[in-house]
Amino acid sequence: MSAFANRLIAWQLAHGRHDLPWQANRDPYRVWLSEIMLQQTQVDTVVPYYLRFLERFPTLEQLAMAPADDVLALWSGLGYYARARNLHQAAQQVMRDHGGRFPQAAEAIASLPGIGRSTAAAIAAFCFGQRTAILDGNVKRVLARQFGIEGFPGTRAVELEMWALAESLLPAEHVDTYTQALMDLGATVCTRSRPTCAACPVSETCVARRQGRQAELPSPRPP
Ligand code: ADE
Repeated sequence: MSAFANRLIAWQLAHGRHDLPWQANRDPYRVWLSEIMLQQTQVDTVVPYYLRFLERFPTLEQLAMAPADDVLALWSGLGYYARARNLHQAAQQVMRDHGGRFPQAAEAIASLPGIGRSTAAAIAAFCFGQRTAILDGNVKRVLARQFGIEGFPGTRAVELEMWALAESLLPAEHVDTYTQALMDLGATVCTRSRPTCAACPVSETCVARRQGRQAELPSPRPP
């Protein structure tokens, strides 16, 4: 297994958050809801919305049966309302096409509305222990800095390179802990501006840090 993965897993166990409401159990409906809410919204903002949403719709079936207006009302204030519409439609699709059971394969999860490759992989890792790589904006930043990857990560070629790298780094076990560590590292330590390298478990091997180029990587969108 990669030293990178080992260090992240140890860091997560010692310093990561383990007390968030969606970490209490690995029900795919709950994990999916949290991942969608967390896509564009910070943890502290998400928590009360998440709890209210589950109180009103405790199960995927109850969400699927609800009027769209009720779903949107519970999303009110979170923004990016396409997320709520997709969530509602995906719940109906799981009832119709999967007999009400959330699909387990990352490809099947990714075919649901509003769920891209990275979110599908996160759900597959957290709920079903699958060995699948994530790659969201935060993870792209971590990889670009750690491995000194040049080029704007929004281009197809750089993104493909990063997907291949993300897959090659996956540990043989504890993929769920590793996945959460990558997300938390990008969100709290390897931040876009002024990363706190002193708190980073992989700072010793970081190309950007060695070269003093944290502010230049990942490369910005070309003009
Ligand atoms: N952003 C997206 N998913 C997340 C998660 N599981 N934990 C923290 N931030 C996230």
